[in-house]
Amino acid sequence: MTVPVIAIDGPSASGKGTLAARLAEKLGFHYLDSGALYRVVALRALRMGVAPADGAQLAELARTLPVSFRDHAVLLDDEDVATAIRTEEISMLASGVAVFPAVREALLARQRAFRRAPGLVAEGRDMGSVVFPDARVKVFLTASAEVRAQRRYKQLIDQGLPANIDALLQELRARDLRDSQRAVAPLVCAPDAILLDTTGLDPESAFAVLERIVQGH
Ligand code: DC
Repeated sequence: MTVPVIAIDGPSASGKGTLAARLAEKLGFHYLDSGALYRVVALRALRMGVAPADGAQLAELARTLPVSFRDHAVLLDDEDVATAIRTEEISMLASGVAVFPAVREALLARQRAFRRAPGLVAEGRDMGSVVFPDARVKVFLTASAEVRAQRRYKQLIDQGLPANIDALLQELRARDLRDSQRAVAPLVCAPDAILLDTTGLDPESAFAVLERIVQGH
């Protein structure tokens, strides 16, 4: 019997991180934050001085990445980089490393290894389209760019990180554009995915809708 996967894809700050983690906890499923992998590749590349345009080196780095996840910690070697990978600089760099097919390929097996009984909730950009095409449920979670910028602003401020709402909106639009126009595994709502727009929904209502979608499958 195959282990069920719930794939949740969508643009940045659509709320998919919070909703996916909560769903995983409620179902007792494992959880994959695939964006964190791209972010850790970007962080390590920055620290090691690998050029953002050097796809071959970035792929090598992705293949040999000493990363592991424990509760809310993202461990690079033994260092918890969970906060360090959330800066705007790393967000932009992660979107950049994600355009290289060899980087994506290098992270494939690592992502699929998260599929363990009793099930997996996986979130990202290509969970339903590429990594887990046989997912039991595919949800495309989105919200207007303005609402997403506000949510991201609040998130950063709550973490004690600096933030500027106009810069965030611009950066978000630039990242959406790059993520949705890249040649490999672009950010799109797959034909077999259910669209969930959370623009007018508070987190509780959004979670309730998500749960109903999952229960219906
Ligand atoms: O979900 P996130 O914002 O943490 O993702 C950071 C970047 O990583 C995003 O701009 C694009 C890339 N990404 C990707 O290409 N594919 C995924 N499955 C997840 C993230």
